Amino acid sequence: MKQSLSFAWNYADNFQKDYLKELPKNHHIIDVPHNIQDVPYNYFDEHIYQKVVTYEKYFDVDDNISNKVSLLRFEAFMLQADIYLNDVFLGHFVSGYLPVEIDVSSCVKQKGNRLLVILDSKEDNHIPPFGFAVDYLTFSGIYREVYLLTFPKTYIKDLYAYGDMQGNTYIHYEKIGEDDISLSFEILDEEGKTIAKTTQNVFKLDNPHLWNIDVPYQYTLLVKASNGEIYETKFGYRDAIFTNEGFYLNNKFLKLRGLNRHQCYPHVGYAMPKSMQENDAIKLKELGINIVRTSHYPQSEWFLNKCDELGILVIDEIPGWQHIGQEESWRNLYYEFVKKMVLKERHHVSLVAYGVRIDESCDDHELYKKGNQIAHELDKYRPTIGVRNFWNSELLEDIYGYNDFTCADMTKGLSNPNKYTKEKDAPVLVTEYMGHMEPVKVTSDLDKRKLVALRHAKVLDDALKYDRTCGSIGWCFVDYYTHVDFGSGDHICPHGVSDMYRNKKYSAAIYESQQDDHPVLEVLTNMRPGDFKESTYQDIYVATNMDRVDLYKNDELVASFYPKNDQFKYLKHPPILINDVLGATFNDERFTKKERKLIAEAFSYAGIHGFSHIKLKHKLLLAKILMKYHLKWNDVVDIWNTHIATWGGYAKTFTFKGIKENKEVIVKRIAPSLEFHYEYLCPRNELIVSDTYDVLPIVVRFVDPDGTVMPYANRAIKVTTEGNVSILGPELQTLLGGQITIYVRSLNKGNGKVIISNEMETKEIELVVR
Ligand code: GAL
Repeated sequence: MKQSLSFAWNYADNFQKDYLKELPKNHHIIDVPHNIQDVPYNYFDEHIYQKVVTYEKYFDVDDNISNKVSLLRFEAFMLQADIYLNDVFLGHFVSGYLPVEIDVSSCVKQKGNRLLVILDSKEDNHIPPFGFAVDYLTFSGIYREVYLLTFPKTYIKDLYAYGDMQGNTYIHYEKIGEDDISLSFEILDEEGKTIAKTTQNVFKLDNPHLWNIDVPYQYTLLVKASNGEIYETKFGYRDAIFTNEGFYLNNKFLKLRGLNRHQCYPHVGYAMPKSMQENDAIKLKELGINIVRTSHYPQSEWFLNKCDELGILVIDEIPGWQHIGQEESWRNLYYEFVKKMVLKERHHVSLVAYGVRIDESCDDHELYKKGNQIAHELDKYRPTIGVRNFWNSELLEDIYGYNDFTCADMTKGLSNPNKYTKEKDAPVLVTEYMGHMEPVKVTSDLDKRKLVALRHAKVLDDALKYDRTCGSIGWCFVDYYTHVDFGSGDHICPHGVSDMYRNKKYSAAIYESQQDDHPVLEVLTNMRPGDFKESTYQDIYVATNMDRVDLYKNDELVASFYPKNDQFKYLKHPPILINDVLGATFNDERFTKKERKLIAEAFSYAGIHGFSHIKLKHKLLLAKILMKYHLKWNDVVDIWNTHIATWGGYAKTFTFKGIKENKEVIVKRIAPSLEFHYEYLCPRNELIVSDTYDVLPIVVRFVDPDGTVMPYANRAIKVTTEGNVSILGPELQTLLGGQITIYVRSLNKGNGKVIISNEMETKEIELVVR
C-alpha cells in the first residue's frame, strides 16, 4: 500500500540540536514538493536557498503494519539529509535527483510517528553534479513527493516488463523476504480487459499493439502474489534501434527531432507537482518533437509517465556537468546514481537509452567502463549513450552523443557526423545544438528572435541531410535558472525555445511547424518597419506547415508564397520566405503590365532591405521609367508613399492565409491597432488534490483585437487570491514580452478565486479545488 506523506510538514528554516526533540513554536507548515526559498524572477543571490533546514512530519499509518515491511520513499530532495523516525537515526542519505528508500519497519508505529529530516541543500563538491561550476541552479528542499509503502514480509520490488515488437515479453523483479510465494501474471489491454494470463516471466504475446510515437499503446501488467499482494506496472511493445545509418522505431526509419529539458520553474525552482511535470510533456508534444533528453539529471516520474502516454521518446541522464571528481567517494556516488537511475526508469516504455556519461566530461576509462556495465547489467535491453563535446572521444557506450555547436550563422547547421568519431559502426546522435551560440530572450529584438529561429531550422535541415546522425536534440526546451557565471548575469540562461514560463519564442514555431497534427502559421516578425533598420520590413519568414501562404495587404492579394528548398533543402516544412510586400497590389495603369511587375519588385526590395541596399538593376529600371514617362523624382516618391511608405505613411494591415490542399486552413492578421486588451488563458477551472497539491497555469497576455501578443508590453499586474488557492511567486509581476504565466496552487478542498488587477481592469477567475 502506498500512502502519501506530502501534506502538512512542520518546517524550520534552520537547524538546532534541540529540534531533534521539538521544532520551535514559530515553525511554518508546508507541503511537498517544497522549495526552501522562493527566488525572485531574476537577479538574486544563489546562496539564499542553500542552507541546512529541518522538516518534521507527524503521521499515522493507514495500513495495518503488524507483520509488515514499511518503506519510506522520498522521490527526491536536494541534496543530503540526516533522517530520524521516532528518535531512531535512520542514517545520512544523498538524493539530489534520485529516490531514497529506507526500510523503517523496525521503528515505524501505527500511530503518532515523528519523522525528522535535517536537510542540507548546500552545493557539495563531493557529490555529483558538483565539484566545479555547473550551468544550472540545483535549488533545494524536499522537492518531489514522499510516500510510506507497506508490504507483507515477503514482497517484490523493482518490477518492470519489457516487450519487443514480436511480442516477446520479459518480466523482471526482485523478491525480498524469506517466504516462498508464487506469482501469476496478467496482461490487460488499454480497455482494462485481461488478454493473457501466465505464470512464466518470459512469454510471447501474439500480435501485440505496438507502442509508437503516434499511437503510444500501453499494456498493464498485474502481478498477483500467492500471499494476496497485487503489483502493477505499465509497459509496451516496441523495438527502438540506433544504428550508424539512423534510428528505427519498430523497423521504421525515424529521424529524431528533440529538445533538452531542464526541470525548473520561475520562483519555485524544482518544486512543482504532477500537473506541471505532465504539462511540460504536453507542451513538448505540441511542439511536434519526438524525443526529449532529461539534461542533466533524472527527472520526475510524472514527466516520464506522460512521455510514455503521449509517445515521446526519452533519453535520461545521470546528474553531472562537465566535471568528474577524482575522490573515490564522488566516483562511488556516480556508480550509485547510475544504478538508481536505471532502477527508477527502466519500466518506462518511452525510454530508449541511458545517458551514463557526465554531460561533456572528458574521457575516463575506468569510470565509464563501470558505469556502462552497471547500466547493462540492470537492463539488458536498452543501449547506453555518452554525451561529449569533442571529437574522437573513447566510446564505451553504445551510442556516441555529440553536442554539435557548429551553427554560427546560416551557412552551416551541423558538422559532418562522420567526423565525430572514428568508430565507423557507432550510432551517432546530436545531443545539443544552438544554446550559447545565439542566446535570445523573449524580450530580445524581433530580428534576433527570427534569426535564432532560422538557425534552429538550419540545424534541423542538416540533421536530415546527414543519414549518419540518428537525429538532433536542441538546446533547449525552456529558459532555465543558472549560476551567476553563466547566462546574462541575471541567473537566467535564455537558451530555451520558450521562456521559463513556457511561453513560446519564435524558435518554438520552427519545431511546431514540422508536424502535421495541427495547422501552424507563425509570422516571425511584427510587420512594423519602425522596429527595423532603415524602416524596412526585412525578410519576412513564416514558420508554417501549409502548402502555401497567400499574403494580403489591406485586403488586396499581394502574392502567393511557397516553401522553397534553396535555403532549407531537407525540411518537410521549411519556413516560407516572403520577400514581396507589393506584388499584385501595384496597379498603376500608367505603366505596362511588365513594367508594373518590375517596379513592384524594385520597390518591394527597397521596402524590405532599405533604399541604401537597392540593386543596380533597380536603379537602372527607375531611371528608365523616369525618362520614358517624363516623370520627376517626386512622382517616384509619390509611388513610394502610396504603396510602401514605411515611415510615417498609414500603417498597413497584412493578412497571411495558410492554404493546404487548396483550402484556407489558418489565418493570421497583423494590423495596426489603437485598441488593446488583456487575455486570460485558464486551461481548466478545477484543481485536483491527490498525492499532493495541484498547480494550474494561467497565461495573462496583452493583445490587440487579432490576438497578437504585444511584444513590448512589459506591464505590471497584481495577483491576489481568495479561498482555497494561493499563487506561487510574488503578488506583483510584470509581463515579459507581453505575457506571463501565473501559477495557482490548491490549498484545501472548496472554492477559490484568483484576482488579477492591471491598469485596465480587475479580472476574477473562479476555481474549485476537489
Ligand atoms: C552545453 C551544455 C549545456 C549548456 C549548453 C549551453 O555545453 O551541455 O548544459 O550549458 O552548453 O549552450
